[in-house]
Amino acid sequence: MKKNVCENYEEACQAAADIFAGQLKQKPDSVLGLATGSTPVGLYKEFVSRSGAGKMDFSQAHAFNLDEYYPIRADHPQSYKTFMDEHLFDHVKFTSTRIPCGEATDPHIECDGYDADLEAAGGLDLLLLGIGHNGHIGFNEPASSYPLGAYMVDLTEETLEANSRFFCDGEKQPVNALTMGIGQIFAAKHIVLLISGAGKAEIVKKLFEGKLHTDIPACFLLLHPNVTLVIDKDAAQGIKS
Ligand code: GLP
Repeated sequence: MKKNVCENYEEACQAAADIFAGQLKQKPDSVLGLATGSTPVGLYKEFVSRSGAGKMDFSQAHAFNLDEYYPIRADHPQSYKTFMDEHLFDHVKFTSTRIPCGEATDPHIECDGYDADLEAAGGLDLLLLGIGHNGHIGFNEPASSYPLGAYMVDLTEETLEANSRFFCDGEKQPVNALTMGIGQIFAAKHIVLLISGAGKAEIVKKLFEGKLHTDIPACFLLLHPNVTLVIDKDAAQGIKS
């Protein structure tokens, strides 16, 4: 894994944006995998600003989002659909965007459809990933086995707790999610793992301690031939650069 340790979050977002800009220059109709959470917010700001300045062109690109809560209405303020619209898709034009549908009647049929769409697009050229405090990627939670294709997952207590900050008090938070599978993530030609903040230092240390922890989904990335870790100093404090 290539490591790019940046001074701060802003620099990390710039560095990650540079990788996406290079990808689009080389292949304007790239299939891009996109993440949610607080970490990509600065990167998406950068996409919007560079695209507005004519420095990045997403108009031929295809976007596949990693995951979505289930069940959740698409127009719910905390749906990942709403998140993506607010932070990116309302501002930057893509040829197509695909997010697992949180209001599908049958989640399994929706996952099969998502797999078929990703396959028809030719798989991911470049995938953006964040990391959860328990090492989850997308919504692939620690488990004893991992589906290769998209599937419905039970969110762990830790993830529910971490994401509860986004839901109003007393509001029913979805306990399931639909997520891209580990096989689809692993098949991406290039992966950018963007990590920021001291709160992630512990999981980052664990990730790089030289063991393949099968209960840390992000450990699969250690085996992928083309992952670029873009990380700020706060998150990287426990590892060698
Ligand atoms: C969510 C998303 C992940 C994301 C993670 C970390 O659960 N499903 O894709 O990487 O949270 O989020 P944050 O960047 O807010 O720490």
